[in-house]
Amino acid sequence: MTVKTAPNRAQWLRLLGIALLIGALVTTLEMLTRERIVASQTSAELDYLRQVLDPDDQGAAITFKKWPIVSRKLELLGLSEGDEMHIALRAGQPIAAIIPSISNAGYGGAIKLLVGIDFTGHIIAVRVISHRETAGLGDKIELAKSDWIEAFSKRSLSNPDTKYWAVEADGGIYDQFTGATITPRAVVNQVAATLQFFADERAALAAQITSQANPEARE
Ligand SMILES: Cc1cc2nc3c(=O)[nH]c(=O)nc-3n(C[C@H](O)[C@H](O)[C@H](O)COP(=O)(O)O)c2cc1C
Repeated sequence: MTVKTAPNRAQWLRLLGIALLIGALVTTLEMLTRERIVASQTSAELDYLRQVLDPDDQGAAITFKKWPIVSRKLELLGLSEGDEMHIALRAGQPIAAIIPSISNAGYGGAIKLLVGIDFTGHIIAVRVISHRETAGLGDKIELAKSDWIEAFSKRSLSNPDTKYWAVEADGGIYDQFTGATITPRAVVNQVAATLQFFADERAALAAQITSQANPEARE
């Protein structure tokens, strides 16, 4: 018969050492996993923002800064309190605003857009982030289904003139889809509203961003 004896001091120390080692391993693994998750979230977020930037502005030289949207303009953009845009910067200088914008005038419900506008007020690109339009009718607003959404690139509030910022059925220059005018009309009107928002805010935005980048220049 074996008689169990209490662990001696050396055994306790060995057990303590093993426990500490396991603890350290678990902590290290947890840290590595967390870093990997953060890194992949960041890269997914970057891909999301870059889709409305110029293909030449995709490198690491371009950084992004979250920027608040003034409360009085949230309704125009279909957004809610706390929603933000991003500013793309090259060497600390703002090159584009990346603005989320939601139309509630779609056929199937809300159409969520992401609009990239450069600081001269020209659209870089517009992408549809989500929508509930009908497959084969309203879903041609998706780049995967048609290149219709590319028609906004390089446009501004004065090109075409504001009164032509509409689908053809409403006297504007933008194509509608056969038998499905509601969807493109919703998108065109929302992109125009987003340009208007940026035109109203551009000067104040540029000043705030520059003064934040060069704090000594502040009054
Ligand atoms: C089942 C169903 C789904 C429809 N889906 C869409 C849609 O996704 N987008 C849209 O603009 N119109 C859609 N329509 C058509 C609209 O009812 C409407 O007729 C049309 O948008 C008006 O465009 P028109 O002036 O070119 O006829 C749908 C109609 C039906 C019956």
